[in-house]
Amino acid sequence: MGSVRIRNLKTGMVLADDVKDIKGRLLLPKGRPIGPEHIRIFKIWGIPQVPVLESPQGESEPEAPAIDSTRLEAARKKLEERFRLTDRRHPAIEEIFAQALQVAASGAFPAVAGPPLPEAQAAAEQPAQPYDDFLKKLIERNILLPEIPSIVFELNEVISNPLSTADQMAQVINKSPSLTAQLLRIVNSSFYGLPARVERVSLAVTLIGTRELSTLAMGISIMSLFRKIPSRLLNMQLFLQHSLACGIVSRLLAANKTMRQTEQMFTSGLLHDLGRLVTFIYFPNEILACMGRAARAGMSLSAAEKNLFGCHHGQIGMQMLHQWRLPVSLEHNVRYHHEPAEAPDPLSAALIHVADLLVNALGIGSSGERCVPPLDPQAWEASGLTADCFETVVQQTLHQFKTLDFLLQVKAV
Ligand SMILES: [Fe+2]
Ligand SMILES: [Fe+2]
Repeated sequence: MGSVRIRNLKTGMVLADDVKDIKGRLLLPKGRPIGPEHIRIFKIWGIPQVPVLESPQGESEPEAPAIDSTRLEAARKKLEERFRLTDRRHPAIEEIFAQALQVAASGAFPAVAGPPLPEAQAAAEQPAQPYDDFLKKLIERNILLPEIPSIVFELNEVISNPLSTADQMAQVINKSPSLTAQLLRIVNSSFYGLPARVERVSLAVTLIGTRELSTLAMGISIMSLFRKIPSRLLNMQLFLQHSLACGIVSRLLAANKTMRQTEQMFTSGLLHDLGRLVTFIYFPNEILACMGRAARAGMSLSAAEKNLFGCHHGQIGMQMLHQWRLPVSLEHNVRYHHEPAEAPDPLSAALIHVADLLVNALGIGSSGERCVPPLDPQAWEASGLTADCFETVVQQTLHQFKTLDFLLQVKAV
């Protein structure tokens, strides 16, 4: 028996063990010969490899091409720097580091992080005055990101009303052709891995669920706003990448925990760093000072924000979502992604905490943080995750990220 990567599978090979999707649902039982349709399903689900009995010809899996040792060493050095704030001896971090090393050495996501450091250091030369009550000032100055399109509020109503029907939901979505097109692309991608093509929103709602699809639609509608936000300091494309990847990982981890609200976790992951947008746009000098301070003092950007603003971007993001009257569970997931143990729903917050950490480790996009945020060991315990989940989660994330990259070019819906 041996594992064979999907691209090397041949029809007629026999499965040596059950193959399951991320939710633990059986895709193909052991002992079954593999047909072309099975290979297609494995690809749709982003299954990286499957265990097979020896092939009839006795062919063995060709060795993966070895990564050049100089490249591996260079990647390791960069990662050691990126991981300097978190305890590498923790088994979860050890595994995340190993996965991140493979990704970094493959060159999939070149290292990126915020504005050039000298600019941040120069700003830190003129220390900004700490704020007494930053959140209060934010409310008083009535700072709002671009106005949310009315469709978000309509979707929110569908989500909050237990009596909402699939028809009502489909009607709301159909009002926006671009949202409809994006949703159908997601529904037909490996994100769901449905066996047949879905052409109508009403069918998508029936298959996926009213509340689930509304939550997903709300997340991508809000995300589309990010592109309209000008910022001289923040690369919005990288910010979108970080957000999308965090949404994907949050949902995969939730599926791993067999949680039912996986779409809500996707949306929470998408929006988790919303508060940082506010600081980059409305308080550029202050956030630059925070970045300089974080780099000099060897602390996370969140900790530096807390020193200066008296709160961090999680709290600011929660304030925005509160002003928009979006679901409280979203508010809490965003608010507590750096302190999951304090959250009313510690499991959801812990999964977003781990997702953010993993995405920072993999270097997919950036929200301004140069280091992998420290892992909260209590949150890890509470999550009930095991380190061996990361190999599959990383493979599926890379796969889904590629299939959902059209969301990075979205126009406002
Ligand atoms: Fe964050
Ligand atoms: Fe983040």
